[in-house]
Amino acid sequence: MPVHFIIKGLSEGFPSIPYLYPVLKVVPWLLLLAVLKVYFGGARNKSERLMHSKVVMITGGTSGIGASIAHELASRGAQIILLTQHPPSDIFLVDYIQDLRNSTKNQLIYAEQVDLSSLHSIRTFATKWVDNAPPRRLDMIILCGNTAVPQGGKKKITKDGLDEEWQVNYLANFHLLSILSPAIRAQPPDRDIRIVFATCSSYIGGTMDPKQTEGAAIANTTATKPRGKGKTAAATRTNTNKRKNHNMFGMTKLALMTFANSFQSHLSSYKRPDNFPVNARVLIVDPGFCRTPGTRRWLTRGSLLGLLFYLMTWPLWWLILKSPEQGAQSFLYATMEAKFGRGTGGPYLIKECREVDFLRKEIKDEAIAKQLWEFSEKQIEAKEKEGAVKRALEKKEKEEEEKKKKQQQDTSTSTTTEGSGSAKSQQTPGSRRSRKAK
Ligand SMILES: NC(=O)c1ccc[n+]([C@@H]2O[C@H](COP(=O)([O-])OP(=O)(O)OC[C@H]3O[C@@H](n4cnc5c(N)ncnc54)[C@H](OP(=O)(O)O)[C@@H]3O)[C@@H](O)[C@H]2O)c1
Repeated sequence: MPVHFIIKGLSEGFPSIPYLYPVLKVVPWLLLLAVLKVYFGGARNKSERLMHSKVVMITGGTSGIGASIAHELASRGAQIILLTQHPPSDIFLVDYIQDLRNSTKNQLIYAEQVDLSSLHSIRTFATKWVDNAPPRRLDMIILCGNTAVPQGGKKKITKDGLDEEWQVNYLANFHLLSILSPAIRAQPPDRDIRIVFATCSSYIGGTMDPKQTEGAAIANTTATKPRGKGKTAAATRTNTNKRKNHNMFGMTKLALMTFANSFQSHLSSYKRPDNFPVNARVLIVDPGFCRTPGTRRWLTRGSLLGLLFYLMTWPLWWLILKSPEQGAQSFLYATMEAKFGRGTGGPYLIKECREVDFLRKEIKDEAIAKQLWEFSEKQIEAKEKEGAVKRALEKKEKEEEEKKKKQQQDTSTSTTTEGSGSAKSQQTPGSRRSRKAK
């Protein structure tokens, strides 16, 4: 076909080719679009590694990038344990797992309930896992669970009385790994254990001020009375809250990366009883900006108007944001690349399927890391104690209520019995019962 057109052009002149000029005008734009799409799509994981027999625990595996990672690893044969906030009996989760099993032809996928916004839920799951003897096989933990307050949105406070972003994005990971640490260290020496953290470039602008994470502190900032008058003061207050929301997300990622560095040191300093070197590596992955449900919620501010704006501008997001599958590529690289399974280094920061440098020196600062570790331990201890007291009180109240209900039931039963007794005494003359009584 093109040869035919070229011959026609050469013999009869190019203007004789139908639609040549309109086509020539459009083609460069299409080429530019294709180049931009490839550029924003990012690098691809080229590893062909199979993951048969690997046991992979993943948080956030039900949505966005996490769901793509779970799908790809399951397709390569890994056993997937989805840690989700919903109970395994949730019908949507049951459907999701069945679809995943069918599409990956892998039956080794199941879910465990771990609500990252509840310290108690994390402890219940992790202690159950660690209590198993001999230790269960565990090759990989991928931490993708995440929450982000939409731009200008209200902060949420968890059951434990903490900022939700702080608890889900950082403290939950600290708590989970602290409890699972013995199970990681107990793996046989020939294994290649990887702990993969998800981060975001917002860590670069994060400021470390963990005291802001207490629910009471947040409530106080939101309730602060405006100092000025009218609109200006209200606008200042809204701006402060907006800025704080943004800072909190950046701080959670900065804290997470600082902890990831400390966790590698914690694992590496362990002296194995068999004298083999420690075989667990920590990897931190920045997937780049992707079109996931989380990003959509953030961009649309969770409003219908925002959603309408998002749909109208969708071609732009389609062009400049990666798909969840493209976002998963650096994670897949981190989980499969052979070089991370050897040596003693770590943690490694991975972006676009290659190792890059940390852009904040605090991440490797031992004093800051120690402070953060101690702060997190104390915060968890205090919140778990508060939670235990609350649960004990709730249990007591429930028991008392049940006791009262039972007492009421007993009283009503005895009244009925008495009632029937009096009925007995008023036997109808001449009835069978009264004749028997005679
Ligand atoms: N998307 C991006 O543009 C981007 C950019 C840079 C970095 N990242 C990072 O990549 C990771 C994945 O991002 P994403 O956009 O794919 O996330 P997402 O679509 O918002 O999904 C978040 C996941 O976290 C789970 N989750 C939220 N709260 C939870 C809780 N309390 N307990 C248990 N699970 C909970 C959600 O479970 P449910 O499905 O049950 O709600 C969901 O599976 C995040 O760490 C994010 O910071 C993303």
